[in-house]
Amino acid sequence: MVNVIEIANVSVRLGDFLALRDISVNIQTGDFVAIIGPNGSGKSTLLRAILGLVPLESGRIKIFDKELRMIPPEWIGYVPQLKTVDRNFPAVTCDLVTSGIHRSWPGILTKKDHESVSEVLAMVGAEHLCHKPLGQLSGGELQRVYLARALVRKPKILLLDEPATGIDAVGEDYMYSILDEHLERADTTVLMVTHDWLTARHHANRVLLINHKLIAEGPPSEALNDKHLRAAFGHVGHAHDQPCDGASDV
Ligand SMILES: Nc1ncnc2c1ncn2[C@@H]1O[C@H](COP(=O)(O)OP(=O)(O)O)[C@@H](O)[C@H]1O
Ligand SMILES: [Mg+2]
Repeated sequence: MVNVIEIANVSVRLGDFLALRDISVNIQTGDFVAIIGPNGSGKSTLLRAILGLVPLESGRIKIFDKELRMIPPEWIGYVPQLKTVDRNFPAVTCDLVTSGIHRSWPGILTKKDHESVSEVLAMVGAEHLCHKPLGQLSGGELQRVYLARALVRKPKILLLDEPATGIDAVGEDYMYSILDEHLERADTTVLMVTHDWLTARHHANRVLLINHKLIAEGPPSEALNDKHLRAAFGHVGHAHDQPCDGASDV
């Protein structure tokens, strides 16, 4: 098994606050990892640390056994937690997905780029939204379009921060079917932040349960036992009892 992401003794300080404390874990090819923990427990910070968006106080993170700066950007797709667009923002769906190819506007698009955008929009069931202004998309549509943006370059690693927020149960099932399809391709690994462990346990093969430090990791049946859940959440309850993460803590 190849170590796709190697996290060794990682601590992250945000201002005066130690958001992550001495986290060590290895993620392997083909893993579908659910990152679970209460609100404010450092889940988004862990994804941002993997992406190099926050400096490490200590420890190190390697991607495919290399420093992040050695990794081609198209190998990693990211759907951030906060997904809002100003009503009057002058761009349509296709523009946002296209920005996942070139990471900047304006981009010079090839015929193949256009084909990739159409293909990925079809994959997430959003082809019909291509020319719709972003400001007119519903929350669920915006989630899908961001997923398309993350998938457009067929990344080897997909990092998703609360991708089911704002979508209904049917939309959530559909999202999981897209992810399962994506995972069937070789060499792909998914890390998904969620507070809904009941749903996640059916899809993920591994769970990281965190509350600033790593409480437990392993297959859902082992990591999500009552003792660990109590240690992470302070009680064992229904997943939907937990408050959704606020948009302010992206
Ligand atoms: N810039 C910052 N300065 C200080 N604390 C922060 C900053 N950003 C986030 N935090 C705090 O760090 C903690 C972890 O945040 P986050 O990773 O967003 O948690 P989660 O995604 O699990 O809800 C939270 O308690 C949050 O309030
Ligand atoms: Mg978060």
